Amino acid sequence: MENNNIIIGSDHAGFNLKEKIKKFLIDSKYNVVDVGTFSTDSVDYPIIAKKVADKIASNEYEKGILICGTGIGMCIAANKINGIRAVVCSDTTSAKFSRQHNNTNILCFGERIVGEYLAKDICTIWLETEFEAERHQRRINLIENL
Ligand code: RB5
Repeated sequence: MENNNIIIGSDHAGFNLKEKIKKFLIDSKYNVVDVGTFSTDSVDYPIIAKKVADKIASNEYEKGILICGTGIGMCIAANKINGIRAVVCSDTTSAKFSRQHNNTNILCFGERIVGEYLAKDICTIWLETEFEAERHQRRINLIENL
């Protein structure tokens, strides 16, 4: 594991799963910084997505996790920030390839879509899989220049 620091955030619809994932990551020896939200009171997901994405775009953190109802809104919002490659996953294969081929730096998923145990497996695979670089780096460079 090259870097143990993870930044995490959710909206109200992802709050309960965020709390479970946060505990799981801490128990798995990650240092977790939680930018909120801290209750099930309604909050707009782009505000939380920006908090996490900005810290990754500025290289303060290498990887982040965002949870909302579906993961979709968080993913769309995070990908608006330069340097962010966010993926929404509801399966472990996508999580693995998003790291190997796309060097994703934010993982999104939805509390209304994935259960706790699948979410934990998705996190583990995403966090432990390395980017394969080479031809994939060339393609990421092309994305950066779009
Ligand atoms: C909130 O109701 C919901 O729209 C949000 O959590 C997320 O699923 C948006 O993509």
